[in-house]
Amino acid sequence: MSDVKPFITLGIESSCDETGIGLYHSEKGLIGHQLFSQVDIHSEYGGVVPELASRDHIQRALPLIKSVLADAEITLNDISAIAYTAGPGLAGALLVGSAVAKSLAWSLKIPSLGVHHMEGHLLAPLLEEKVPNFPFVALLVSGGHTMLIDVEAIGKYKILGESLDDAVGEAFDKTAKILGLGYPGGPALAKLAKQGNLGAFTFPRPMTDRPGLDFSFSGLKTFARNMFAKHPEKKADIAKAFEVAATSTLMIKCRRALEQTHRATLVVAGGVSANLSLRQELDAMGLKQGIQVFYPRQEFCTDNGAMIALAGHFRLSQGQKTAGGEITIQPRWSLEDLEAV
Ligand code: KG4
Ligand code: ZN
Repeated sequence: MSDVKPFITLGIESSCDETGIGLYHSEKGLIGHQLFSQVDIHSEYGGVVPELASRDHIQRALPLIKSVLADAEITLNDISAIAYTAGPGLAGALLVGSAVAKSLAWSLKIPSLGVHHMEGHLLAPLLEEKVPNFPFVALLVSGGHTMLIDVEAIGKYKILGESLDDAVGEAFDKTAKILGLGYPGGPALAKLAKQGNLGAFTFPRPMTDRPGLDFSFSGLKTFARNMFAKHPEKKADIAKAFEVAATSTLMIKCRRALEQTHRATLVVAGGVSANLSLRQELDAMGLKQGIQVFYPRQEFCTDNGAMIALAGHFRLSQGQKTAGGEITIQPRWSLEDLEAV
């Protein structure tokens, strides 16, 4: 047993429609995490209602923190620092996490640190037993972002390509809505696609016929709308064709990014990395090209507090300076503007 006091980071995620809390221990790793999803609150509106999201974060944050601490059998006084999602995300929702983090840190006289939500996603695979080594290429696929990033080290990010219009998760959600599958659409569409016939329809692979690493997914959603108008009885086949086109487009761009950067490791994270068809495509590509592919476990693909605790832990343990007590957020924030640690 070491006599150095362990450093325990509490992570708070509240950028969109889930309140996530995580606890990262400097020696034991992740020692607790819980999530409250607001899906039931927003589903009747067919999408996230920002004001309802903020109000629910206010109600959930403190009870969830208490519950995570109790499960880990520690108290508030054992916490060494607090990391919270400072952006990007919904301003009101972010403000709740920031206010809770700053007030708690101030009362406990411990430091707090604003974390970039997408850096949280990007580092989530490091919560697993088998971790990727730097440098690597990262594919970040969520409801708000589609990005290929060259990752040299924590905080050293170069965006190689990104979506020029809809994020891929957004395209899944909108296509699901067109097919009448409700919210959130990604998992529902993936489920329906399992019953579809491969090859019944062929959708385009947008922007793969020209050089570059940017994406465009809004055309796929329009393609789905037109197909559905002509063949309303072929929902599952349309879902399948959409999923195959979206995932193979992502795979083609990943292969291209790996070739271009000469990296041998691919890290995939964000909500859409939960998609099994995407994982199959990328694993097959990895096997063929000699690339190691890493993902977070399913529950850490979508938003969670564990990834925020981890990102905060890395930055704090590498000596990143913390800010004062002001309640600050950054709803728009580029990964390239982060400090290297
Ligand atoms: O990372 P995330 O939880 O939130 C953001 O930061 O945006 O990602 C949510 C997105 C949604 O668009 C959701 O439909 C999509 O991830 N998603 C999926 C799957 N699970 C979640 N998309 C396709 N297949 C899935 N299995
Ligand atoms: Zn996210």
